[in-house]
Amino acid sequence: MEPSPWPGVWRDGRELFTRNAVPGVSVYGEPLRTSHEVEYRGWDPWRSKLAALLARGAPGSVLEPPRAVLYLGAAHGTTASHLSDLWPAAPIYAVEKSPSVFAPLVALARRRTNLYPILADAQLPERYRADVGEVDLLYQDVAQRDQVRIFRENADACLAARGRGLLMLKVRSVTQRRPTAAIARESRAELDRHGLRVDGEWPLAPFARDHLALAVRR
Ligand SMILES: C[S@@+](CC[C@H](N)C(=O)[O-])C[C@H]1O[C@@H](n2cnc3c(N)ncnc32)[C@H](O)[C@@H]1O
Repeated sequence: MEPSPWPGVWRDGRELFTRNAVPGVSVYGEPLRTSHEVEYRGWDPWRSKLAALLARGAPGSVLEPPRAVLYLGAAHGTTASHLSDLWPAAPIYAVEKSPSVFAPLVALARRRTNLYPILADAQLPERYRADVGEVDLLYQDVAQRDQVRIFRENADACLAARGRGLLMLKVRSVTQRRPTAAIARESRAELDRHGLRVDGEWPLAPFARDHLALAVRR
């Protein structure tokens, strides 16, 4: 097991791992590996867009440790569980609107005490902003038509003045017809108009088709 360019992530060849905060427990069927008496969990870029972003060559700064995270679209907690491994001292507020995936997310949070599930619609940040307070990392993966608006409204509600964000933009949820480059340009311009500067853009293919990851700073 070798260190990687991303703080807290380990590598064995091309495989990525995080140090398992709950030894003995695999969250989504990922392999567990022990090395020098430390247990690691495989982080699968085909299952997690954040692992896909690392596999696509994002710099170490994308995993700069935050003080607190707002995660929109947590689903079963696949990616959120790795954030919980990476940053044990940071509260991760995990918003999910679907009750069917919220139950497994709550079960996950029983063992991972830095994970705080919130059953809510990310289109209505006023419903949870008082619980979340201020965060310095906003992560979003909701695959909705109005993804950019959701992202900037949550940034307005909860992101610290010098905070940063990672937006997993599903281009085909915005429109079926127009080219990816045009959607990317318009999304960046909309964020920019609202004081959110995009300082990195990566396609996530082949791991997640029709997705771009945007790294954003206030
Ligand atoms: C692609 S899945 C997320 C996968 C997850 N981020 C991961 O990597 O483990 C998208 C999730 O966003 C949720 N979602 C979509 N629109 C939402 C909204 N407006 N508010 C909260 N969650 C939403 C869906 O219910 C779904 O669970």
